[in-house]
Parts: sequence; C-alpha cells; structure tokens
Amino acid sequence: YRVAVIGGGANCEHDVSIASAAAVVAALESFGHQAIPFTIDPSGQWRAGRRQIDFGTAVTMLRDCDVVFPALHGPRGEDGTVAGLCELVGVPYVGSGVGAGALAMDKWATKLVAGAVGIATAPATLLTESTAASYAFSQPVVVKPLSAGSSFGVGLARTPVELATALADAFEFGDRVLVEDVVVGREIDVAVLGRPDGSRLVAPALEIIVEELFSHADKYGGAAGFRVPAEIEDADRIALADAAVAMYDALGCCGLARIDYFLTDEGPVLNEVNTMPGFTEQSQAPKMFAAAGTGYPDLVNLLVSDAIA
Ligand code: DAL
Ligand code: MG
Repeated sequence: YRVAVIGGGANCEHDVSIASAAAVVAALESFGHQAIPFTIDPSGQWRAGRRQIDFGTAVTMLRDCDVVFPALHGPRGEDGTVAGLCELVGVPYVGSGVGAGALAMDKWATKLVAGAVGIATAPATLLTESTAASYAFSQPVVVKPLSAGSSFGVGLARTPVELATALADAFEFGDRVLVEDVVVGREIDVAVLGRPDGSRLVAPALEIIVEELFSHADKYGGAAGFRVPAEIEDADRIALADAAVAMYDALGCCGLARIDYFLTDEGPVLNEVNTMPGFTEQSQAPKMFAAAGTGYPDLVNLLVSDAIA
C-alpha cells in the first residue's frame, strides 16, 4: 500500500510524535509498503519529506494514498482533527474517528463517559482561569491541563504555594485545568485493539515502575521502567481488561487505544485513554502486543490492513 505517515504536530508532543512516525515508516517499509512521510511543524506548517507544502497540496497528496497513519499525539493530531481531515479527504486512516479522539483528548469528557459506564476516576474539579482563584486548597492534588499528553503541564501540589505554581504551569497548555485528588495505586496500562470483525484484543497489561508521579522526564529521560506482563492478580487483570474494553467501546474507539489506570486497593481507577498512544517499538502499547506475540512491524501492518478492510 501507499501509506501516508503523518508525524510531528503543532503541540507539545511534537517530538514524541516524530519518534513514533519514524518507527512506523521503518516498520511499513520492512513490510514492503510504500511509506510517504508527512510532518506537521510546531508552527502548523506541513512538509512532505523535508519539502514545505501548502495545505491544499497536502490534501491532494493524502488523497493519492491508500491509507493514512496519523502517528500524532496530543491536540490537533490525536483529538479527532486529523481524523476529520481524512474523513473529508475521503481516505481511510488508522485509529479512532473524530468523536473518540475528541472525547479521549478531553480529560473531563473522559471522566463523564467513565462515570456513565461505572468506571472509577479520581474525584476532580474543573477550573478555568476565572474560577481558579476561588479554589480552596485542602489536600494534596494533581494538577493537569485538560487536553495535553505525555504529562506536559502535570504537577503535584502539596501546599497552596505549590498549587499556585502548578496551576500557572497547567494553564500554559490551555484554558481549562483539572485539579484531581491524588490516587495511590500501581500504574497499569492496558492496550486494546479493535478489529474490523468487532473483536477486541486485549494485550497483557504493563506496569510502569516509577518513584512518584510518572512525569514527562521519567517517560522520556529513561527513569521509568516497564514490566510486561504486569504481575497482578487474575481478578485485577480481568477487571482491568473489562474496564478497558468498556471504555474503548463507550468512547467509540477504533484500531489501537491504550487505557491507563491506577490499580488501587479498591480496584482500577481510570487515569486516561490514549487513542494514538506512543508508538515507537519501545513504547508501552507495542511492548504489550509484543508480549502477546505480535511484534512491532506486524502490529503496524495489522493496523494499516484493518483501516482499509
Ligand atoms: N501521549 C503519549 C504519546 C502516550 O500516550 O504514550
Ligand atoms: Mg496521554
């Protein structure tokens, strides 16, 4: 197939996406597909290979491909916007559609959906720049931008002074912020792959081994370790898998999604859903599928084939 692979993106996860896209291109080529790499610069400028192209040219070039693999993370990439572009262009694409991407990128909407299907999330308050000043600090909280990824702008606040700093950091990434109770539990990720026949494959769960909060520096600075399969009880494994599939279907995901939890003494607490999770060979979801016997190039090939099927 002629596969357009889009990487980069005009958001803070640009560099993470560049790594995902490069890995996808290599895997496609190893399968004999023709990969056509596109990059979206941090400014929003599109490139075909290194060449700057205007948006109209990008649309024409995408239309000439058999399928698009948007290896994009974060806002204006993973949030349904690029899925919408592919819908309008009329070209099949890997991963979730407009609605699932938009819902999963919004941490507040994700909580509402989780609540509706009986999946626990951390109690949280939604703050805007106008309501933040009236928030009364009473206990340690985690502060997060509503729509960002890779832990950008996420901070732990143990004091009112730390809260003020954490809020200022989080508002750098958008005009709505979540202030969440701290959840004490093991960080467990579950990957779900939906197939065109309606089946749902759940890979062995992965545990993230970290000292404290899984920060951006841990994620990409090499301080975090992954354990696949996670060493968890059967009852927990089943509860996590059931909740992951329920969330995948409630959001209306397609292709691959990685659903992240805290495993607490009271059971799984959903942290977030990634509709285009980090996608290098060393990233969580590919490692989980590798543990299930589907290596990285096979996973990429499967996603592309399913998108066309
Ligand atoms: N948002 C990052 C890429 C992840 O989910 O892995
Ligand atoms: Mg994420």
